[in-house]
Amino acid sequence: MTNSVQEHIVMNSSDNRLMSDVMKANLSRRSILKLGGAVGAIALLPAAFNSRHVFAQPSQPIHIRKMTSLGFTPIPFSSEDRVTVPNGYSANVFYAWGDPVGLEHNQPEFKSDASNTAEEQAAQAGMNHDGMAYFPFAQHGNEHGLLVMNHEYIDNGLLFPDGDKTWSLEKVKKSQNAMGISVIEIKKVNQQWQVVRPSKYARRITPHTPMQLTGPAKNHDLMKTAADPLGELILGTMQNCANGETPWGTYLTCEENWSDIFVRESNNFTQLDKRYGIMQKEKEDKYRWNEFDERFNTDKHPNEPHRFGWVVEIDPFDPNATPVKHTALGRFKHEGAMLVLSKEGHAVVYMGDDQRFEYIYKFVSKGKYNPNDRVANRRLLSEGKLYVAHFNEDNTGEWRPLVHNQNGLTAENGFANQGDVVIKARLAADLVGGTKMDRPEWIAVDPYQTGSVYCTLTNNSQRGTEGKAGINAANPRAKNNYGHIIRWQENAQDYLSETFTWDIFALGGNKLKGEHYVNGDDFGSPDGLRFDNHGILWVQTDVSSGTLNKKAYEGMGNNQMLAVIPEQGEFKRFLTAPNGSEVTGIAFTPDNKTMFINIQHPGEPDSGVTEPDQVTAISTWPDSQGKTRPRSATIVIQKEDGGVIGS
Ligand code: FEO
Ligand code: CA
Ligand code: CA
Repeated sequence: MTNSVQEHIVMNSSDNRLMSDVMKANLSRRSILKLGGAVGAIALLPAAFNSRHVFAQPSQPIHIRKMTSLGFTPIPFSSEDRVTVPNGYSANVFYAWGDPVGLEHNQPEFKSDASNTAEEQAAQAGMNHDGMAYFPFAQHGNEHGLLVMNHEYIDNGLLFPDGDKTWSLEKVKKSQNAMGISVIEIKKVNQQWQVVRPSKYARRITPHTPMQLTGPAKNHDLMKTAADPLGELILGTMQNCANGETPWGTYLTCEENWSDIFVRESNNFTQLDKRYGIMQKEKEDKYRWNEFDERFNTDKHPNEPHRFGWVVEIDPFDPNATPVKHTALGRFKHEGAMLVLSKEGHAVVYMGDDQRFEYIYKFVSKGKYNPNDRVANRRLLSEGKLYVAHFNEDNTGEWRPLVHNQNGLTAENGFANQGDVVIKARLAADLVGGTKMDRPEWIAVDPYQTGSVYCTLTNNSQRGTEGKAGINAANPRAKNNYGHIIRWQENAQDYLSETFTWDIFALGGNKLKGEHYVNGDDFGSPDGLRFDNHGILWVQTDVSSGTLNKKAYEGMGNNQMLAVIPEQGEFKRFLTAPNGSEVTGIAFTPDNKTMFINIQHPGEPDSGVTEPDQVTAISTWPDSQGKTRPRSATIVIQKEDGGVIGS
């Protein structure tokens, strides 16, 4: 998250109704009385396992029961430059930035002096691994499958021998090729997971990969450019943060801080530029793509930014398949896309917009999932209804539709059609009164409690600042240094519901600083969030490098991953990360005996920008002895006795 120059900036200046409730809400509200591991209004644990949320191949029936206790001994905070896991577990690096992805005729080796070319980078793992999913093969899927992951952003100081001291088209291309997505084939051989090279599935998707558009913004005037006068064929995806996956075996990648790339040199910002954070030249010195790739100069190509900020569907099993941007899911700074099926089989997607005071959204497909028709399923995200969440002060909530001609989304208010609504989704959500949240990150769904949904709200130190939205029951801290996890239960236990009840599942804190909020091991800035098949909720933290182990986080060491069984509520620390890194990306094999996670931006200094002559100053992970620059990497975690992770 320390990637974005904007993550702490507020783009939402709308005057939603929250101001009126500012002083009424406080930490003693009943929404928080349920803290500390207890569970309040939400009934738990139906006896039967609801397999709808577990998207293993149908040929691999899963006979898994809910875990009722965590079997590992929690580990302490750590400031060591390595990955630490509990006794009885192993954690091994197996796909680091610069490793060849495994293309059949092009497997360039990583050069530790960062001298790989742009062309070589396009055949190697990108930088800053983030969201990730595992797709098992139908045969031996617990030991053989495809791993798909995002490469969120780049750090010039690590990517180039001289950082950004010089700049060129070649550097722009290498920067672009270090973003996007990797698809790798992986296999367990003699208990060791390895990348299969070469592989016919191996693929890199970059900001140059052609993509199709679906939904209300397809062919919309705001999507048309000189290169694409019909507004339907887009080049690339970028700043891909978290993710989702579908029961029909596709990967969803989410475009988050895309606005960092676009530069409006003239400073003549449109309303949309401002609401989405398009920068002026003086403020944007990180990417500089606009200097050599005109597409990212917003004065010359004002509609190009509208072509980013979407959820993109990728078929990992077909390396020739064109990725699809589904505009019906709205345009914002997408963190992730948690997809579940409603009782009737509608695809329901929960999504956070990660910036201070932005919103939580939900999409409900018009059509229904058909397990026997993958082609039809691939159209499910093209049409449906988009909503924004409104959290009432009394622990009820509602999903407010973002539908043209409803709730003031009319031509007079700037929404002439549904295309306008989805392209300007933030403005539409302002108008219908979404609740401004403390930076919505990942969303997870409890596989044992139908309709129960969790969302990390990573932090927001400005909520109580004069002129800002102020506290409310769902975001109860004026200076939310540690973040929290909110939870809602859809009414009638159906993801289709337009109303819900909610509570705060956990507040982050630091007992060493007298902030006693967490039941169990302390954490702050929760970001990655996923349930496994056994009902364990895994929480990954992204404390910014300038705050790690200092200020409010003094004594808390490096970023970490914890586990909690919701009805018990006690957090246990499972993993600590190398210096300067965050923990992100979570994927499991169907048997939950292998877990994959990503270590992002090891070695990142407080400033968030690595100096090219200081690349090993903070971390040398994963290669020890300081011989090379730090590299983001996927690690594979297994229990040494071959058991289930967490047991
Ligand atoms: Fe890319 Fe919101 O983290
Ligand atoms: Ca992050
Ligand atoms: Ca994140």
